[in-house]
Amino acid sequence: MKKMLMINGSPRENGSSAEILNIIADKISGMGYGSEIINLGKLKISHCRGCMGCKKAGKCVIDDDMTPLYGKLQDADALAFAVPIYFSTETGLLKNFIDRLYALMNRRGDGTWDVKFGKPKKGVVAVNCGAPDGNMLYHGTMTHLTVVLGTFGASDIAAGIIPGTHSGVKGSPFLGSLLDDVEFQLSL
Ligand SMILES: Cc1cc2nc3c(=O)[nH]c(=O)nc-3n(C[C@H](O)[C@H](O)[C@H](O)COP(=O)(O)O)c2cc1C
Repeated sequence: MKKMLMINGSPRENGSSAEILNIIADKISGMGYGSEIINLGKLKISHCRGCMGCKKAGKCVIDDDMTPLYGKLQDADALAFAVPIYFSTETGLLKNFIDRLYALMNRRGDGTWDVKFGKPKKGVVAVNCGAPDGNMLYHGTMTHLTVVLGTFGASDIAAGIIPGTHSGVKGSPFLGSLLDDVEFQLSL
């Protein structure tokens, strides 16, 4: 069975981001995908120090809860980011996690990047926010997270913004569209 590693970028283990990931997990279980949710809020992941130690050691020199995630990321067939908007962008929790992925990148002599991210992956980006018109506001964040997944070798990426989460996410037409996109991208 293929596996989607799901990163919950909210500090809330049972909030909207978690609900969205659980709904996606249900959907993809009928498509031959198992899933595992990583709740970043439960982990102690330090910010990247920019020390370049990883370029000498071949791995991040910080040993914390990020350490076991590198292998999981490399093994996964698909990756999902679900994250709330905090002050018009993704949470610091998710950004710290993303910055630590620098340990998987090495610049070749010709200036191109060698990215050690295991097999090519499918991707899902599920941004969610309180503002009812957030689907009009936060495309920058959605695009940025899509580019991050692309940097790490993902293609066929489903991405969406689910706004107005204070009214709940179940039954949201924006979530419905994202689920359709997930189905399409995984089927490619
Ligand atoms: C510190 C903080 C900042 C927030 N900033 C925004 C914002 O700029 N725009 C917005 O639409 N919602 C904002 N929200 C609302 C959350 O994005 C929204 O409630 C989200 O669905 C929470 O997801 P979660 O339950 O997975 O944590 C903010 C919430 C918090 C706690």
